[in-house]
Amino acid sequence: MKKEFSVTPWHVTGKVNYEKLIKEFGTQSVSVSLISKVKNPHSLLRRGLYFSHREFDLWLKDAQAGRKVSILTGRGPSEKMHLGHLIPFLLAKSLQESYNCPVYIPISEDEKFFVKKNLSFKEAQEFADDNVLDLIALGFKQGKTFIAKDFSYLPVYRNSAKIAKLISYSTAKAIFGLKPENNIGWTFYPAVQAFHILWPQFAEGPHKTLVPVGIDQDPFIRLTRDIATHSTLNFQKPSAIHSKFLPSLTGQAKMSSSEQENSLIYLSDSAEEVKKKINKYAFSGGKDTIEQHRKHGGNPDIDISFLYLKYLFEQDDKKLEKIHNDYKSGKLLTSELKNILIDKINAFLKEHIKRREDAKKHVDKFILE
Ligand code: TYM
Repeated sequence: MKKEFSVTPWHVTGKVNYEKLIKEFGTQSVSVSLISKVKNPHSLLRRGLYFSHREFDLWLKDAQAGRKVSILTGRGPSEKMHLGHLIPFLLAKSLQESYNCPVYIPISEDEKFFVKKNLSFKEAQEFADDNVLDLIALGFKQGKTFIAKDFSYLPVYRNSAKIAKLISYSTAKAIFGLKPENNIGWTFYPAVQAFHILWPQFAEGPHKTLVPVGIDQDPFIRLTRDIATHSTLNFQKPSAIHSKFLPSLTGQAKMSSSEQENSLIYLSDSAEEVKKKINKYAFSGGKDTIEQHRKHGGNPDIDISFLYLKYLFEQDDKKLEKIHNDYKSGKLLTSELKNILIDKINAFLKEHIKRREDAKKHVDKFILE
C-alpha cells in the first residue's frame, strides 16, 4: 500500500501527519510547560511550529545552570534561500541571544552536489557563498558564530572519516533508505553531517549541543546520537528540536525548491515579485465572494497569508489575535489580509537586502577555513 506521506532529508511528499511522525521517529512532543521554561521564547516556539524534540529539556537545564552549551544548524546550498530555510536559523539566533552561547553553521555543498543530479560543483560552491551572506545578515553574534563550508574547512574530512568507520552500510541504508543506484558520495555524506552535529564538541570538548532543524533532518540526529558516546569519540548525545514545515504558497506541506518558483518566496525577491506571488498564489481560507465572506467569515487556520504572519511576520500576539478574529468574523477580507502580509514581507526583505550587502564586509569574521 502506498504511504499517505513520506518525510526524508531529501524528499517530502503527501499531507504530513506530525503526530504520526513523532511515533515513527521516536521523538518527544514539545509541551507548553517545556516552552514556559525558555528565556524569552521565540514566537516559533510559543506558536507551536516547533513540535518535537530529543532531550531539549536537558540542553535547557545546562543552559540555565550556566554550563557550557552550544547550538548547531546547517544549510545545504542547492539554490538561493527561501522563507522556509529561515525557520531553524531564527530559533538559533533567538536562543543565542537568550543564553549567549556559540552558534555553529556548517554548509554542506558536498551534500547538494551529490544529491542534486543537475547541480555542478561550481554552482554548489557559488550557492554556498551566496547563502552565507543571507545567514550572516540574520544578525548572529560576531565572535560567537562560526560558519564552515565542507569543501574548504579542513577538519571535515578527517573527522568524518573517524565517524564513517563507526557506521555500517546496512545501518545507513536502514536510516536513510539509500538506494543501490545512489552515488557513493551520497552514501558517505551521512558521516559528514554527523561530524557537523558533533563539530562543537570536536572544537570545545564534550558538552550539550542543541540542533534546531526541520523534522526532515531527524534521521541525521538519530544516527549521530547513536555514535556520539562511542569510546573513540566520548562525546555527549546532541539534543534536537524539530519544526513542522512552513507550507508553500499554494499550501503544499513544505516550501521547497522542488516546487514551482511561484510557490516560494525567495529572500532575493523584489517587492513587485512578492506582491504578485502572494496575490496570485497564496492559498486563501476566505469565501468565494465578498458577500459570502462578510456573512460567514474565513478560516485563518488554513489561510497561507495568516500562517506566514503567525509563524514569521507578526510578532505582536495582540495584533495577530485581532487579525485572526477579524478574518474569522468576515470583517477582514482576503485581499486586505494579503496586503498586510505583502507589506510585512517587503519591509523585512528591504532590511534583509541592506544587511546582506553589509555582510559582504564581514564574511571573514564568520567563516573558518
Ligand atoms: P536544507 O538546506 O535543505 O534546509 C535548511 C534547514 O531548513 C529547514 N527547512 C525548512 N523548515 C521549515 N519549513 C520549510 N519549508 C523548510 N525547508 C527547509 C531544513 O529542515 C533544514 O533544517 N542537510 C541539511 C543541511 C545541513 C544541516 C547540518 C542541518 C548540513 N549539516 C547539520 C542541521 C545540522 C539540508 O540540506 O538542509
